[in-house]
Amino acid sequence: MPNILITNVCYRACTFCFARQRLGDGAQEGSTIHMSRENIRYVMDFLDRSNDKNLRLLGGEPSQHPEFVEIVKEALERNFHVHIFTNGMMTHEIADYLGGLTHEQFSALCNVSPQATLTEAQKEDVEYFLSKVGHKAGLGITVTSEDIQYEYLIDTIKRHNLGKQIRVGIAQPIVGVSNEFLPVSNYKTIGTAILAMARNLIEHDIMIGFDCGMTMCMFSEEELGGIITSSRGFDSICTPVMDIGPNLDVWSCFPLSEVLNTRLDQFDTVKELSDYYTNQLLPYKQFGCMPECMDCAYLRRKQCSGGCVAQTMLTFNRLPSKKGRPPQEKPAV
Ligand SMILES: C[S@@+](CC[C@H](N)C(=O)[O-])C[C@H]1O[C@@H](n2cnc3c(N)ncnc32)[C@H](O)[C@@H]1O
Ligand code: SF4
Ligand code: SF4
Repeated sequence: MPNILITNVCYRACTFCFARQRLGDGAQEGSTIHMSRENIRYVMDFLDRSNDKNLRLLGGEPSQHPEFVEIVKEALERNFHVHIFTNGMMTHEIADYLGGLTHEQFSALCNVSPQATLTEAQKEDVEYFLSKVGHKAGLGITVTSEDIQYEYLIDTIKRHNLGKQIRVGIAQPIVGVSNEFLPVSNYKTIGTAILAMARNLIEHDIMIGFDCGMTMCMFSEEELGGIITSSRGFDSICTPVMDIGPNLDVWSCFPLSEVLNTRLDQFDTVKELSDYYTNQLLPYKQFGCMPECMDCAYLRRKQCSGGCVAQTMLTFNRLPSKKGRPPQEKPAV
């Protein structure tokens, strides 16, 4: 299920953002890129061909695309479910429109990570968006240190009747570009902090869910028990998410976007694309993200994915060749 980067515009400036090398620089003339409607249709056709009826929009901030509402309307007419990854900083008109859609038509994950400074007007826009979409939205935070600020989320969820779950991710690096990320040396301390947060949240019937790149050994055996009883369950996954850029370039996931990228027209279906990137990641999966992964039973038994491949590339300083996928012969039609 690929995500589609429909615009590179975003005004939030999260310190950890792994999309930062793709974002436009407001100070730089001509740096704004919005995906054309034609390219969006090309992606919808690609998804249709793959029997995938989920259109997952991000950016940048997807609602900053000047034709955002028209894009959503067209997708709904084609019977797609639209999911957006958003920072919630959108106009009231857009929030009103999204608020009127059903759960079957629309859902959102709202990034409310505290590592960005919002103006009062921006905060008000986020509040308005959440108040309109309610249970169709869940909250997400990205962790950059063991000092996880999350208490404000409890009140936000209750106030707006949001989905009672919080997606927790750890800030991953971008291979070849600098951003604020969580080094693997801090994983155990973070594991303890995540468990403390989960235990507190479950008191309010709010459960955390895990994003990709977590490792089993972030938690002791005892902590893993606590995680199971106070979360949606733990999974250590690293499966290529796949993102499609405005010009139909495609990469396996943002942390690897500079080293594992190619073009969408090289592939016929999502499965073909996913198989390609799964194969590309395979050599790194046997290492895991830390030297000690090589002797780890969790990795050997595939209970743990070995963490984020971007971390593995940094730990072992091994990058894939920049060649990309050779042109494929398409069968004549
Ligand atoms: C790149 S943002 C784009 C969409 C939208 N602007 C937003 O903030 O949700 C998509 C998601 O990636 C997450 N994210 C950004 N940088 C990350 C990183 N370095 N590691 C893990 N997740 C990250 C964000 O928290 C957000 O949930
Ligand atoms: S709001 Fe999203 S795109 Fe914008 S800086 Fe934050 S994570 Fe990146
Ligand atoms: S390399 Fe794996 S864990 Fe890291 S961001 Fe990509 S899919 Fe997630």
